[in-house]
Order: sequence, then structure tokens, then C-alpha cells
Amino acid sequence: MKVTIVGAGNVGATCADVLMYRQIAHEVVLIDIKEGLAEGKALDMRQSANILGSATRITGVTNDYSQTANSDVVVITSGVPRKPGMTREELIGINAGIVKSVIKQALEYSPNAIIIVISNPMDTMTYLALKESGLPKHRVIGMGGILDSARFKSYLAAALNCPQKDVEGVVIGGHGDTTMIPLTRFATYLGVPVSQFLSQEQLKKIADDTMVGGATLTKLIGTSAWYAPGAAGAVLVESILADQKRLFACCVALDGEYGQKDICLGVPVIVGKNGWEKIIDFQLNAEEQALFNKSAEAVRNMNNLLATLAL
Ligand code: 2OP
Repeated sequence: MKVTIVGAGNVGATCADVLMYRQIAHEVVLIDIKEGLAEGKALDMRQSANILGSATRITGVTNDYSQTANSDVVVITSGVPRKPGMTREELIGINAGIVKSVIKQALEYSPNAIIIVISNPMDTMTYLALKESGLPKHRVIGMGGILDSARFKSYLAAALNCPQKDVEGVVIGGHGDTTMIPLTRFATYLGVPVSQFLSQEQLKKIADDTMVGGATLTKLIGTSAWYAPGAAGAVLVESILADQKRLFACCVALDGEYGQKDICLGVPVIVGKNGWEKIIDFQLNAEEQALFNKSAEAVRNMNNLLATLAL
């Protein structure tokens, strides 16, 4: 199974590294527009594969999409990252043009690929990828919810003072500081609702911290995060390649589900060899549904901006 990662920056390279280290793909191609960057990082990873005993073949190329031919999955991480104080939405002007051109070139050589979008603003870039590619909706997936859910679970585990793997939780809605919805009602500590262990005040703080999780990291590091975003992209690829049918929050095209249409937004989906295969209805209560509708409105406004950009 072959995976192309477009963008050899921090997120793309980390995703490639996890795919290589865990031998999720047989072949990984890292591609970037910056001369030598993808080649250099792939060479370094190839040498690390030797140390770690990975059989994954990894190559890097500058702008030569012919090397990506027949990829099963294409992960798009290209575009500029956030700087401290910036929202993901402010990146739309630059990143939309980049994502549009990447989609065209990647699909020319891998017409059967499943597309994973990580570039920001992720919900709008996923919508753009869907429209530009003309692919069936199941083959376009935005990676945001896995990352946001990981941040949610991580903050919950810290508050519970327990191992992270004992916590379950999910974040739906948009991948924006004000559009994501941590579903606290469904979060559990080994199946027991977290509200039995944490106060409403603590839970509110955890939800708030989750929503600005990316901004917190950007402020600390000076650019946007990469370990968790790269790892989240890799587990999404893994669920597709190994047909694991894992249930993740992902950004997908809605056609009436969760009360929304003509939009890509984060909802719980089963991910397998056909891309996202099924949306799971978590039966939101009125308050959660109102937040979801508000999130959809914000993302829709951002999507409407696409029409005003000269791409
Ligand atoms: C983040 O939240 C990169 O959007 C990504 O860190």
C-alpha cells in the first residue's frame, strides 16, 4: 500500500515518520515544493528505518507528482501554519490556492486515492477538496476531530490523574477555536461518565482548554503543533489501509446528517478501506445540537469566502 504525503513540513514529516516507524504503509512518498526538503527528510527517515528495523520504503521528491503515482491514500498537509495570535481561518487566502493545485496534481497520478486533508482552515479545505476533486464524498476526509479529541482526552486524563488510554471522549463540529464541540456528556473514565469524578467547573475548563488547544501550542512553540496532528493523520491512514473500521471524529460531507447539508464538518464516522464508510448518530441533545448548528454556520460563512477568492 502506497501513501503520499504532500508537504514535508513538521506535520507531514511527522505523519510520514509514524507511518514508517509503525510500518503502516509499504511505501511512503513525501513531496514538497521546497527544493531538497522532502528528499532530505525522507533520507533521514530511511536511515532511522534502518535503526528501527522498519521495512517501509520512504522517498522524498520536489514537486514531481509522477513519483506519487498509484497512491492509495494522499495526505494533504501543505500550506502555511498558524503563527501565535492567528486563527486557522486567517490562513484561507493562502492555503486555498495551494490545496486546489495539490488536489489537481495528486489526482492526475492517483485517481483512485482516498484524500485526507490536514491543511487549515481544515473544514473549509476539506469542502474545497471535495468540490475541486469531484470525488465521491466517502473518499475525502478532514483530519481535525481525531486531534481535538486527543487533546480533550489528554486534558481529561490529567484532571483525573489517570493513564490517557483509560479515558474516552470525542470532539465534533468544526476544527476552530470557537467551532469545536467537546462532548463532555459522553466522556468516560473506563466507561463511567467523567461527571462522576470531575466538577462542572473542572469539566468546563477542560472543554475550554481543548477548544484553544492548538492556539496554546502555537503560543508556546511559535508555530502550530505537529506531533499530535501528524500522529492523528497516521492513525487515519492506518484505519483505511488495514480496513480497521475504527470510529473517529472526522470532517466529512453531510447530507442531512446532524441536521446539516452541503458542508464538511466533524462527526463520528467509521473509517475503513473505502474511506469514511458510515456516519454514526450520537443523538445530540438540544443544547449540543444548537452548538453544532452554530459551528456549521461559522464554517459555512468561511466556505462562502471561497467563492470570493481568486484561486
Ligand atoms: C492544530 O490544531 C495543526 O490545526 C492543527 O494544531
